[in-house]
Amino acid sequence: MSDFDLLNYIDGEWTGKELPKIEVTNPATGEVIGTVPSAGKDEAEQAIQAASKAFKKWSGLTAGDRSDLLMKVYDLMIEHKEELARLMTMENGKPLQESRGETVYAASFLKWFAEEGKRVYGRTVPGTAPNHRIKVIKQPVGVVAAITPWNFPAAMITRKMGPALAAGCTFIVRPPRQTPLTALKIAEYCDQAGIPKGVINVICGAHGPITDAFMTHQEVRKVTFTGSTEVGRYLLKASADQIKKVSMELGGHAPVIVCDDADLDVAVSQAVASKFRNSGQTCVCANRIFVQSGVYDTFIEKFVDTVRTTLKVGNGLDEGVNFGPLIDGRAYEKVEGQVKDAIEKGAALLTGGHGSTEHGAFFYQPTVLKDATQEMDIMHTETFGPVAPIQKFETIDEAIRLANHTPYGLAAYIFTNDVRRGTLLTEALEYGIVGWNDGLPSTAQAPFGGVKQSGLGREGGSEGIEEYLETKYISLRI
Ligand code: SIN
Repeated sequence: MSDFDLLNYIDGEWTGKELPKIEVTNPATGEVIGTVPSAGKDEAEQAIQAASKAFKKWSGLTAGDRSDLLMKVYDLMIEHKEELARLMTMENGKPLQESRGETVYAASFLKWFAEEGKRVYGRTVPGTAPNHRIKVIKQPVGVVAAITPWNFPAAMITRKMGPALAAGCTFIVRPPRQTPLTALKIAEYCDQAGIPKGVINVICGAHGPITDAFMTHQEVRKVTFTGSTEVGRYLLKASADQIKKVSMELGGHAPVIVCDDADLDVAVSQAVASKFRNSGQTCVCANRIFVQSGVYDTFIEKFVDTVRTTLKVGNGLDEGVNFGPLIDGRAYEKVEGQVKDAIEKGAALLTGGHGSTEHGAFFYQPTVLKDATQEMDIMHTETFGPVAPIQKFETIDEAIRLANHTPYGLAAYIFTNDVRRGTLLTEALEYGIVGWNDGLPSTAQAPFGGVKQSGLGREGGSEGIEEYLETKYISLRI
Protein backbone atom coordinates (compact mmCIF):
# COMPACT_ATOMS: atom_id res chain seq x y z
CA MET A 1 0.00 0.00 0.00
CA SER A 2 1.45 3.42 -0.96
CA ASP A 3 0.27 6.98 -0.34
CA PHE A 4 -0.59 7.00 -3.99
CA ASP A 5 -3.03 4.12 -4.26
CA LEU A 6 -5.80 6.40 -5.46
CA LEU A 7 -9.37 5.75 -6.57
CA ASN A 8 -11.52 7.07 -9.40
CA TYR A 9 -13.78 10.04 -8.71
CA ILE A 10 -17.31 9.49 -10.00
CA ASP A 11 -20.43 11.34 -8.86
CA GLY A 12 -18.60 12.81 -5.89
CA GLU A 13 -17.47 9.38 -4.61
CA TRP A 14 -14.05 7.69 -4.59
CA THR A 15 -14.71 4.43 -6.41
CA GLY A 16 -13.12 1.39 -8.05
CA LYS A 17 -11.48 -0.38 -5.09
CA GLU A 18 -12.70 -3.72 -6.44
CA LEU A 19 -11.33 -3.19 -9.97
CA PRO A 20 -7.99 -4.46 -11.31
CA LYS A 21 -5.15 -1.99 -10.75
CA ILE A 22 -2.97 0.01 -13.10
CA GLU A 23 0.55 0.54 -11.74
CA VAL A 24 2.04 4.01 -12.07
CA THR A 25 5.82 4.13 -12.41
CA ASN A 26 8.38 6.86 -11.93
CA PRO A 27 10.10 7.27 -15.32
CA ALA A 28 13.30 8.44 -13.59
CA THR A 29 13.71 5.25 -11.53
CA GLY A 30 11.39 2.65 -13.02
CA GLU A 31 9.82 2.19 -9.56
CA VAL A 32 6.11 1.70 -9.00
CA ILE A 33 4.90 4.73 -7.03
CA GLY A 34 1.17 4.07 -6.86
CA THR A 35 -1.88 2.48 -8.43
CA VAL A 36 -5.25 3.52 -9.83
CA PRO A 37 -8.28 1.40 -10.75
CA SER A 38 -8.60 0.12 -14.28
CA ALA A 39 -12.16 1.11 -15.12
CA GLY A 40 -14.05 0.10 -18.26
CA LYS A 41 -17.28 0.76 -20.10
CA ASP A 42 -19.62 0.33 -17.08
CA GLU A 43 -17.75 2.86 -14.97
CA ALA A 44 -17.53 5.25 -17.93
CA GLU A 45 -21.30 5.03 -18.27
CA GLN A 46 -21.74 5.73 -14.56
CA ALA A 47 -19.59 8.83 -14.96
CA ILE A 48 -21.62 9.96 -17.98
CA GLN A 49 -24.89 9.45 -16.07
CA ALA A 50 -23.50 11.40 -13.11
CA ALA A 51 -22.36 14.27 -15.30
CA SER A 52 -25.67 14.27 -17.12
CA LYS A 53 -27.64 14.35 -13.86
CA ALA A 54 -25.51 17.20 -12.47
CA PHE A 55 -25.83 19.32 -15.62
CA LYS A 56 -29.20 20.94 -14.94
CA LYS A 57 -28.22 22.27 -11.54
CA TRP A 58 -24.69 23.33 -12.49
CA SER A 59 -25.75 25.11 -15.67
CA GLY A 60 -28.52 26.79 -13.65
CA LEU A 61 -26.06 28.47 -11.27
CA THR A 62 -25.06 32.02 -12.05
CA ALA A 63 -21.72 32.50 -13.80
CA GLY A 64 -20.60 34.33 -10.66
CA ASP A 65 -21.34 31.31 -8.44
CA ARG A 66 -19.50 28.98 -10.78
CA SER A 67 -16.64 31.45 -10.87
CA ASP A 68 -16.37 31.48 -7.06
CA LEU A 69 -16.12 27.69 -6.97
CA LEU A 70 -13.50 27.61 -9.74
CA MET A 71 -11.49 30.21 -7.82
CA LYS A 72 -11.56 27.95 -4.76
CA VAL A 73 -10.04 25.14 -6.82
CA TYR A 74 -7.46 27.62 -8.12
CA ASP A 75 -6.57 28.65 -4.54
CA LEU A 76 -6.23 25.02 -3.45
CA MET A 77 -3.93 24.23 -6.38
CA ILE A 78 -1.70 27.17 -5.52
CA GLU A 79 -1.76 26.32 -1.81
CA HIS A 80 -0.75 22.72 -2.62
CA LYS A 81 1.70 23.68 -5.34
CA GLU A 82 4.60 21.78 -3.80
CA GLU A 83 2.59 18.60 -3.20
CA LEU A 84 1.20 18.61 -6.73
CA ALA A 85 4.57 19.45 -8.30
CA ARG A 86 6.35 16.59 -6.50
CA LEU A 87 3.67 14.14 -7.57
CA MET A 88 3.88 15.36 -11.15
CA THR A 89 7.66 14.94 -11.19
CA MET A 90 7.33 11.44 -9.77
CA GLU A 91 4.85 10.22 -12.36
CA ASN A 92 5.94 12.24 -15.40
CA GLY A 93 9.68 12.69 -14.79
CA LYS A 94 9.78 16.43 -15.50
CA PRO A 95 12.13 18.36 -13.19
CA LEU A 96 10.61 19.88 -10.08
CA GLN A 97 11.03 23.44 -11.33
CA GLU A 98 9.05 22.58 -14.46
CA SER A 99 6.37 20.84 -12.38
CA ARG A 100 6.05 23.92 -10.17
CA GLY A 101 5.74 25.99 -13.33
CA GLU A 102 3.12 23.62 -14.71
CA THR A 103 1.09 23.78 -11.48
CA VAL A 104 0.89 27.57 -11.73
CA TYR A 105 0.22 27.35 -15.48
CA ALA A 106 -2.54 24.77 -14.89
CA ALA A 107 -4.16 26.81 -12.12
CA SER A 108 -4.05 29.94 -14.30
CA PHE A 109 -6.62 28.38 -16.67
CA LEU A 110 -9.07 28.07 -13.78
CA LYS A 111 -8.54 31.70 -12.82
CA TRP A 112 -8.77 32.98 -16.38
CA PHE A 113 -11.98 31.07 -17.13
CA ALA A 114 -13.50 31.88 -13.74
CA GLU A 115 -13.37 35.48 -14.99
CA GLU A 116 -14.18 34.75 -18.62
CA GLY A 117 -17.33 32.81 -17.67
CA LYS A 118 -18.82 36.08 -16.43
CA ARG A 119 -18.40 37.58 -19.89
CA VAL A 120 -20.39 35.10 -21.97
CA TYR A 121 -22.43 37.74 -23.74
CA GLY A 122 -25.23 37.32 -26.23
CA ARG A 123 -26.41 40.10 -28.53
CA THR A 124 -29.49 41.59 -30.14
CA VAL A 125 -29.71 41.86 -33.90
CA PRO A 126 -31.95 44.31 -35.82
CA GLY A 127 -35.13 42.54 -36.96
CA THR A 128 -36.64 42.50 -40.46
CA ALA A 129 -39.85 44.35 -39.53
CA PRO A 130 -40.93 46.89 -36.88
CA ASN A 131 -42.51 44.08 -34.86
CA HIS A 132 -39.55 41.68 -35.20
CA ARG A 133 -36.76 41.16 -32.63
CA ILE A 134 -33.78 38.81 -32.79
CA LYS A 135 -31.92 37.84 -29.66
CA VAL A 136 -28.76 35.68 -29.71
CA ILE A 137 -27.89 33.74 -26.56
CA LYS A 138 -25.08 31.36 -25.57
CA GLN A 139 -25.73 28.14 -23.69
CA PRO A 140 -23.43 25.38 -22.38
CA VAL A 141 -23.07 22.41 -24.74
CA GLY A 142 -23.78 19.83 -22.00
CA VAL A 143 -21.69 16.90 -20.83
CA VAL A 144 -18.05 17.17 -21.95
CA ALA A 145 -15.66 14.21 -22.10
CA ALA A 146 -11.93 14.95 -22.12
CA ILE A 147 -9.04 12.68 -23.04
CA THR A 148 -5.73 14.13 -21.88
CA PRO A 149 -2.03 13.37 -22.40
CA TRP A 150 0.84 12.52 -20.02
CA ASN A 151 3.20 15.34 -21.02
CA PHE A 152 1.25 17.99 -19.06
CA PRO A 153 -0.57 15.95 -16.41
CA ALA A 154 -2.31 19.00 -14.88
CA ALA A 155 -2.46 21.80 -17.44
CA MET A 156 -4.07 19.79 -20.22
CA ILE A 157 -6.90 18.96 -17.81
CA THR A 158 -7.50 22.46 -16.46
CA ARG A 159 -7.26 24.01 -19.93
CA LYS A 160 -10.39 21.97 -20.74
CA MET A 161 -12.06 21.76 -17.35
CA GLY A 162 -11.78 25.52 -16.64
CA PRO A 163 -13.75 26.72 -19.66
CA ALA A 164 -16.15 23.75 -19.58
CA LEU A 165 -17.16 24.39 -15.96
CA ALA A 166 -17.19 28.16 -16.36
CA ALA A 167 -19.56 27.81 -19.33
CA GLY A 168 -21.92 25.61 -17.29
CA CYS A 169 -20.94 22.20 -18.72
CA THR A 170 -20.24 19.14 -16.61
CA PHE A 171 -17.04 17.23 -17.14
CA ILE A 172 -15.48 13.76 -17.28
CA VAL A 173 -11.80 13.24 -17.86
CA ARG A 174 -9.93 10.10 -18.73
CA PRO A 175 -6.29 10.83 -17.87
CA PRO A 176 -3.49 8.78 -19.47
CA ARG A 177 -2.26 5.60 -17.80
CA GLN A 178 1.20 7.14 -17.24
CA THR A 179 0.03 10.17 -15.19
CA PRO A 180 -3.36 9.55 -13.57
CA LEU A 181 -2.30 10.58 -10.03
CA THR A 182 -2.13 14.31 -10.75
CA ALA A 183 -5.61 14.12 -12.29
CA LEU A 184 -7.01 12.47 -9.18
CA LYS A 185 -5.33 15.09 -6.97
CA ILE A 186 -7.09 17.80 -8.99
CA ALA A 187 -10.36 15.93 -8.36
CA GLU A 188 -9.50 16.03 -4.64
CA TYR A 189 -9.14 19.83 -4.78
CA CYS A 190 -12.46 20.10 -6.66
CA ASP A 191 -14.09 17.98 -3.96
CA GLN A 192 -12.59 20.12 -1.18
CA ALA A 193 -13.65 23.30 -2.96
CA GLY A 194 -17.27 22.14 -2.93
CA ILE A 195 -17.77 21.56 -6.66
CA PRO A 196 -21.12 19.69 -6.56
CA LYS A 197 -21.08 15.93 -7.12
CA GLY A 198 -21.19 14.76 -10.71
CA VAL A 199 -19.88 18.08 -12.09
CA ILE A 200 -16.39 16.69 -12.44
CA ASN A 201 -15.51 13.02 -12.77
CA VAL A 202 -12.10 11.40 -13.23
CA ILE A 203 -12.02 7.89 -14.62
CA CYS A 204 -8.78 5.96 -15.07
CA GLY A 205 -8.71 2.82 -17.14
CA ALA A 206 -8.30 1.26 -20.54
CA HIS A 207 -8.42 3.70 -23.44
CA GLY A 208 -10.60 1.55 -25.76
CA PRO A 209 -13.74 0.89 -23.67
CA ILE A 210 -13.77 4.32 -22.02
CA THR A 211 -13.31 6.16 -25.31
CA ASP A 212 -15.98 3.98 -26.92
CA ALA A 213 -18.42 4.94 -24.16
CA PHE A 214 -17.61 8.63 -24.69
CA MET A 215 -18.05 8.42 -28.44
CA THR A 216 -21.25 6.37 -28.49
CA HIS A 217 -23.23 7.81 -25.59
CA GLN A 218 -25.84 10.37 -26.69
CA GLU A 219 -25.43 12.34 -23.47
CA VAL A 220 -21.82 13.23 -24.26
CA ARG A 221 -22.18 16.33 -26.41
CA LYS A 222 -18.56 17.28 -26.75
CA VAL A 223 -15.22 15.46 -26.80
CA THR A 224 -12.02 17.36 -26.25
CA PHE A 225 -8.67 15.70 -26.85
CA THR A 226 -4.99 16.50 -26.64
CA GLY A 227 -2.63 13.92 -28.12
CA SER A 228 -1.37 12.46 -31.36
CA THR A 229 -2.80 13.25 -34.79
CA GLU A 230 -3.32 9.52 -35.30
CA VAL A 231 -5.66 9.19 -32.28
CA GLY A 232 -7.28 12.53 -33.14
CA ARG A 233 -8.14 11.20 -36.59
CA TYR A 234 -9.74 8.10 -35.05
CA LEU A 235 -11.80 10.22 -32.63
CA LEU A 236 -12.90 12.53 -35.40
CA LYS A 237 -14.17 9.57 -37.42
CA ALA A 238 -15.91 8.15 -34.33
CA SER A 239 -17.56 11.52 -33.64
CA ALA A 240 -19.24 11.49 -37.05
CA ASP A 241 -22.03 9.06 -36.12
CA GLN A 242 -23.57 11.44 -33.59
CA ILE A 243 -22.07 14.65 -35.03
CA LYS A 244 -20.46 15.33 -31.66
CA LYS A 245 -18.69 18.58 -31.12
CA VAL A 246 -14.92 18.09 -30.93
CA SER A 247 -11.81 20.03 -30.07
CA MET A 248 -8.48 18.52 -31.03
CA GLU A 249 -5.02 19.65 -30.01
CA LEU A 250 -2.80 17.31 -32.00
CA GLY A 251 0.79 16.85 -33.11
CA GLY A 252 3.20 19.55 -34.18
CA HIS A 253 6.57 19.84 -35.91
CA ALA A 254 7.55 23.35 -34.94
CA PRO A 255 10.05 25.18 -37.13
CA VAL A 256 12.36 27.84 -35.73
CA ILE A 257 13.61 30.46 -38.20
CA VAL A 258 16.66 32.44 -37.13
CA CYS A 259 17.28 35.38 -39.48
CA ASP A 260 20.68 36.96 -39.95
CA ASP A 261 19.60 40.17 -38.17
CA ALA A 262 18.41 38.34 -35.02
CA ASP A 263 19.76 38.96 -31.55
CA LEU A 264 21.56 35.64 -31.31
CA ASP A 265 21.65 35.54 -27.50
CA VAL A 266 17.87 35.85 -27.43
CA ALA A 267 17.47 33.35 -30.27
CA VAL A 268 19.70 30.78 -28.56
CA SER A 269 18.21 31.04 -25.08
CA GLN A 270 14.62 30.95 -26.39
CA ALA A 271 15.28 28.13 -28.86
CA VAL A 272 16.97 26.04 -26.13
CA ALA A 273 14.05 26.72 -23.77
CA SER A 274 11.54 25.71 -26.47
CA LYS A 275 13.44 22.65 -27.67
CA PHE A 276 14.32 21.10 -24.32
CA ARG A 277 11.23 21.96 -22.25
CA ASN A 278 9.93 18.74 -20.70
CA SER A 279 12.87 16.91 -22.37
CA GLY A 280 11.50 17.83 -25.78
CA GLN A 281 8.14 16.23 -25.05
CA THR A 282 5.66 18.99 -25.87
CA CYS A 283 3.57 19.53 -28.99
CA VAL A 284 5.05 23.01 -29.37
CA CYS A 285 8.72 22.09 -28.87
CA ALA A 286 11.11 23.46 -31.48
CA ASN A 287 11.66 20.51 -33.82
CA ARG A 288 13.44 21.90 -36.86
CA ILE A 289 15.84 24.81 -36.58
CA PHE A 290 16.52 26.80 -39.76
CA VAL A 291 19.36 29.33 -39.49
CA GLN A 292 20.31 31.89 -42.15
CA SER A 293 23.76 31.32 -43.62
CA GLY A 294 25.32 34.58 -42.32
CA VAL A 295 24.83 33.56 -38.67
CA TYR A 296 24.79 29.77 -39.04
CA ASP A 297 28.17 29.01 -37.44
CA THR A 298 27.87 31.57 -34.64
CA PHE A 299 24.34 30.45 -33.73
CA ILE A 300 25.44 26.82 -33.60
CA GLU A 301 28.47 27.58 -31.43
CA LYS A 302 26.33 29.49 -28.90
CA PHE A 303 23.50 26.95 -29.03
CA VAL A 304 25.78 23.98 -28.32
CA ASP A 305 27.56 25.88 -25.55
CA THR A 306 24.22 26.73 -23.87
CA VAL A 307 23.02 23.13 -24.11
CA ARG A 308 26.27 21.81 -22.64
CA THR A 309 26.52 24.32 -19.80
CA THR A 310 22.91 24.81 -18.70
CA LEU A 311 21.15 21.44 -18.95
CA LYS A 312 21.65 18.96 -16.13
CA VAL A 313 20.16 15.53 -16.76
CA GLY A 314 18.84 13.39 -13.88
CA ASN A 315 16.00 12.55 -11.54
CA GLY A 316 13.73 15.60 -11.50
CA LEU A 317 13.46 15.46 -7.71
CA ASP A 318 17.23 16.04 -7.30
CA GLU A 319 18.59 19.50 -6.64
CA GLY A 320 19.87 21.30 -9.74
CA VAL A 321 18.40 18.84 -12.26
CA ASN A 322 16.55 20.65 -15.05
CA PHE A 323 16.28 17.87 -17.60
CA GLY A 324 14.43 14.62 -16.90
CA PRO A 325 13.96 11.23 -18.56
CA LEU A 326 11.81 10.32 -21.52
CA ILE A 327 8.44 8.86 -20.64
CA ASP A 328 9.19 5.29 -21.77
CA GLY A 329 11.20 2.92 -23.94
CA ARG A 330 9.11 3.61 -27.05
CA ALA A 331 9.92 7.31 -26.84
CA TYR A 332 13.60 6.46 -26.39
CA GLU A 333 13.67 4.18 -29.43
CA LYS A 334 12.05 6.84 -31.61
CA VAL A 335 14.65 9.43 -30.60
CA GLU A 336 17.51 6.97 -31.06
CA GLY A 337 16.19 5.96 -34.50
CA GLN A 338 15.85 9.56 -35.70
CA VAL A 339 19.39 10.45 -34.57
CA LYS A 340 20.85 7.35 -36.25
CA ASP A 341 18.98 8.08 -39.48
CA ALA A 342 20.14 11.73 -39.49
CA ILE A 343 23.79 10.81 -38.91
CA GLU A 344 23.68 8.12 -41.60
CA LYS A 345 22.33 10.73 -44.01
CA GLY A 346 25.12 13.22 -43.29
CA ALA A 347 24.21 15.25 -40.18
CA ALA A 348 27.10 16.07 -37.84
CA LEU A 349 26.60 15.21 -34.16
CA LEU A 350 27.75 18.14 -32.00
CA THR A 351 26.67 17.00 -28.54
CA GLY A 352 24.62 14.19 -26.98
CA GLY A 353 23.56 11.40 -29.31
CA HIS A 354 23.33 8.73 -26.63
CA GLY A 355 21.47 7.80 -23.47
CA SER A 356 20.99 5.17 -20.81
CA THR A 357 18.26 2.61 -20.33
CA GLU A 358 18.91 1.06 -16.93
CA HIS A 359 16.21 -0.12 -14.49
CA GLY A 360 13.40 0.78 -16.86
CA ALA A 361 14.36 4.48 -16.87
CA PHE A 362 15.07 6.06 -20.23
CA PHE A 363 17.37 9.09 -20.24
CA TYR A 364 18.54 10.58 -23.53
CA GLN A 365 21.17 13.31 -23.51
CA PRO A 366 20.25 16.71 -25.03
CA THR A 367 21.41 16.34 -28.61
CA VAL A 368 22.37 18.80 -31.34
CA LEU A 369 22.82 17.90 -34.99
CA LYS A 370 24.03 20.29 -37.67
CA ASP A 371 23.74 20.19 -41.45
CA ALA A 372 20.32 18.55 -41.31
CA THR A 373 18.64 18.06 -44.70
CA GLN A 374 15.14 17.34 -45.96
CA GLU A 375 16.12 13.72 -46.64
CA MET A 376 16.20 13.01 -42.90
CA ASP A 377 13.22 11.53 -41.04
CA ILE A 378 13.69 14.02 -38.18
CA MET A 379 12.83 16.90 -40.52
CA HIS A 380 9.42 15.37 -41.29
CA THR A 381 8.32 13.34 -38.25
CA GLU A 382 7.58 14.87 -34.86
CA THR A 383 10.43 13.85 -32.51
CA PHE A 384 8.88 14.34 -29.05
CA GLY A 385 12.38 14.16 -27.63
CA PRO A 386 15.53 16.20 -26.94
CA VAL A 387 17.10 16.44 -30.39
CA ALA A 388 17.75 19.74 -32.18
CA PRO A 389 18.45 19.32 -35.91
CA ILE A 390 19.79 22.50 -37.51
CA GLN A 391 19.58 23.26 -41.24
CA LYS A 392 21.08 26.25 -43.12
CA PHE A 393 18.98 28.52 -45.37
CA GLU A 394 19.84 31.44 -47.68
CA THR A 395 16.64 33.41 -48.36
CA ILE A 396 13.51 34.15 -46.35
CA ASP A 397 11.36 32.61 -49.08
CA GLU A 398 13.34 29.40 -48.74
CA ALA A 399 12.83 29.44 -44.93
CA ILE A 400 9.08 29.89 -45.35
CA ARG A 401 8.92 27.05 -47.86
CA LEU A 402 10.87 24.71 -45.57
CA ALA A 403 8.87 25.69 -42.49
CA ASN A 404 5.50 25.16 -44.19
CA HIS A 405 6.56 21.87 -45.78
CA THR A 406 4.70 19.69 -43.26
CA PRO A 407 1.13 18.52 -42.65
CA TYR A 408 1.35 20.07 -39.16
CA GLY A 409 0.61 23.66 -38.18
CA LEU A 410 0.70 24.14 -34.41
CA ALA A 411 3.57 26.42 -33.36
CA ALA A 412 6.40 28.16 -35.21
CA TYR A 413 9.12 30.49 -33.96
CA ILE A 414 10.92 33.33 -35.67
CA PHE A 415 13.88 35.37 -34.54
CA THR A 416 14.38 38.74 -36.17
CA ASN A 417 14.53 42.37 -35.06
CA ASP A 418 13.37 43.62 -38.45
CA VAL A 419 9.68 44.53 -38.05
CA ARG A 420 8.86 44.29 -41.74
CA ARG A 421 10.53 40.91 -42.17
CA GLY A 422 8.98 39.60 -38.94
CA THR A 423 5.50 40.80 -39.89
CA LEU A 424 5.69 39.15 -43.31
CA LEU A 425 7.05 35.94 -41.80
CA THR A 426 4.29 35.72 -39.16
CA GLU A 427 1.71 36.16 -41.91
CA ALA A 428 3.25 33.59 -44.26
CA LEU A 429 3.69 30.80 -41.74
CA GLU A 430 0.82 28.29 -41.76
CA TYR A 431 0.64 27.87 -38.00
CA GLY A 432 -1.84 28.63 -35.23
CA ILE A 433 0.82 30.09 -32.95
CA VAL A 434 3.92 32.09 -33.87
CA GLY A 435 6.48 33.03 -31.22
CA TRP A 436 8.39 36.12 -32.40
CA ASN A 437 11.61 36.36 -30.38
CA ASP A 438 9.66 34.20 -27.91
CA GLY A 439 10.27 30.48 -27.38
CA LEU A 440 7.56 29.98 -24.74
CA PRO A 441 4.35 31.61 -26.03
CA SER A 442 1.80 29.45 -24.12
CA THR A 443 -0.38 31.32 -21.66
CA ALA A 444 -4.00 31.12 -20.42
CA GLN A 445 -5.08 34.36 -22.07
CA ALA A 446 -4.06 33.35 -25.62
CA PRO A 447 -5.98 31.04 -28.01
CA PHE A 448 -3.70 27.98 -28.22
CA GLY A 449 -4.31 25.64 -31.17
CA GLY A 450 -3.24 24.51 -34.59
CA VAL A 451 -4.13 24.55 -38.26
CA LYS A 452 -3.79 21.77 -40.87
CA GLN A 453 -3.35 18.37 -39.18
CA SER A 454 -2.48 19.92 -35.82
CA GLY A 455 -6.06 20.24 -34.74
CA LEU A 456 -9.42 21.91 -34.49
CA GLY A 457 -10.53 24.58 -32.05
CA ARG A 458 -8.68 26.76 -29.56
CA GLU A 459 -7.89 26.45 -25.87
CA GLY A 460 -7.33 29.53 -23.74
CA GLY A 461 -8.16 33.14 -24.46
CA SER A 462 -11.70 34.34 -25.00
CA GLU A 463 -11.92 31.79 -27.83
CA GLY A 464 -11.40 28.95 -25.32
CA ILE A 465 -14.82 29.24 -23.74
CA GLU A 466 -16.63 29.42 -27.10
CA GLU A 467 -15.70 25.77 -27.61
CA TYR A 468 -18.06 24.87 -24.74
CA LEU A 469 -20.99 27.03 -25.82
CA GLU A 470 -23.83 26.66 -28.29
CA THR A 471 -25.31 29.69 -30.04
CA LYS A 472 -29.09 29.99 -30.15
CA TYR A 473 -31.16 32.78 -31.63
CA ILE A 474 -34.67 33.69 -30.67
CA SER A 475 -36.78 35.29 -33.38
CA LEU A 476 -39.70 37.12 -31.80
CA ARG A 477 -42.77 38.75 -33.40
CA ILE A 478 -44.38 41.22 -31.01
C1 SIN B 1 1.26 20.49 -25.41
O1 SIN B 1 2.36 20.02 -25.54
O2 SIN B 1 0.28 19.86 -25.86
C2 SIN B 1 0.96 21.78 -24.69
C3 SIN B 1 2.09 22.69 -24.59
C4 SIN B 1 1.76 24.02 -23.91
O3 SIN B 1 0.68 24.21 -23.37
O4 SIN B 1 2.63 24.86 -23.94
